[in-house]
Amino acid sequence: MESIEQPAILSLFPEGSSVVDGEIAISGVQASDLAAAYGTPAYIVDESALRQRIRHYRDGLSLRWPNSRVYFASKAFPSTAVYRVMSEEGLGIDVAGGGELVMALAGGADPRDILVHGNAKTDGDLKMVLDAGVGLIIVDNLHEVDQLSALVQGTQDVLVRIRPNVDTETHEAMSTGHGNSKFGMGPEEARLAIGRIQRSRNLRMRGLHVHIGSQVFDLDAFSESIRALSEFGEFEIYDLGGGLGERHTYDDPDVSVDDYLDAVVLAAKDFLPPASKIILEPGRSLVARAGVTMYRVVNVKRGGKTLVAVDGGMADNLEVSLYGQRFEATLSNRFRDEELVSVVGRHCESGDELIDGVHLDSPSAGDLLLMPVTGAYCFTMANNYNGSLRLPVVFVSDGVPRLVVRRETYEDLLARDVLVTPLQPSR
Ligand code: LLP
Repeated sequence: MESIEQPAILSLFPEGSSVVDGEIAISGVQASDLAAAYGTPAYIVDESALRQRIRHYRDGLSLRWPNSRVYFASKAFPSTAVYRVMSEEGLGIDVAGGGELVMALAGGADPRDILVHGNAKTDGDLKMVLDAGVGLIIVDNLHEVDQLSALVQGTQDVLVRIRPNVDTETHEAMSTGHGNSKFGMGPEEARLAIGRIQRSRNLRMRGLHVHIGSQVFDLDAFSESIRALSEFGEFEIYDLGGGLGERHTYDDPDVSVDDYLDAVVLAAKDFLPPASKIILEPGRSLVARAGVTMYRVVNVKRGGKTLVAVDGGMADNLEVSLYGQRFEATLSNRFRDEELVSVVGRHCESGDELIDGVHLDSPSAGDLLLMPVTGAYCFTMANNYNGSLRLPVVFVSDGVPRLVVRRETYEDLLARDVLVTPLQPSR
């Protein structure tokens, strides 16, 4: 039967996913084999699909604007294996703070290919990135100019982050380009910062940066933010941020990387100097679709709304409770749209609902449930709510799975605690 061979949900899975012997296979490996080898819940990443997406971005940008570079906004999936893939594929790395720097270096990134963000970089952060010899620091505010001037020995290339006063239709917590955003500088402060940097002995004013938010589908908003940069004079480098939205559900718009690159480069041709270098720093749209979370159904409650409870939840996916992000899901081996259910997590909070309303095919305890498009920010924002153990990450490439982050253990949960001597029982 055709519908069983090609379930519609495959359009949200990593490119190259298929149905093998009646079950979804990621890069050729069936879900039940992954579950048997690595347990559940687990994050599965199709490494081949990830590399394909990276190359598409990298080559697509350089074709349209040869003097360019894609940097990975590593907050979207900060694991050394992902840093390594990005570096191997020739991408630069965007880090926000010392922690991401350490992970990027451990993943093999060349410090000169690293750029640094943060709206409140401490002297400690700055010393760390300067010691490492990073390529670019994105100056967020006037105070940071003073901090850097005092700390830099030799010279340091910097960009200035502009707040372009562009609002975007995305979740409030993901909108960063509006006038009251805590990120970057409005026009007056930015002009002061640019002047001070140009006069400083040790900072080199290389260009401007803008980033208007995340999960953005409105291409005009990107163009508008690029136009806003042209009001500050001409520079050598323009970092145009990230933010392209990724389709998570059937209802989401499908704005392709090519659509996005076309729009951005068109705006750059209209508003920026032709000889300048363009940087893009996508996170979500590089990694989201390569990732799938695999859960085991623990129980199903019927009577009222059907509730399918799985062995993970808001500890491994905060996107839903924090941003109201919608996802789709499927059982690994049954694809009919039979029953409207809600998928809930195992944590002690009513808000721990992964999907409110999805069709599954007669779910029951023991089934494997796959939730696609979880490759961005889920690993990043995982937590230990209710003493949950953070999930392993399994890469699958050309039919071969390999563990790249092991599952957390109960020993890990106790590892940071300084054990206190028990109180003596009073007599
Ligand atoms: N550049 C800068 C300066 C950023 O702050 C970000 C994301 C990016 C690039 C990459 O944006 P992307 O291409 O991934 O949309 N915590 C939220 C996401 C917040 C995004 C923060 N900044 C989440 O869990 O969905």
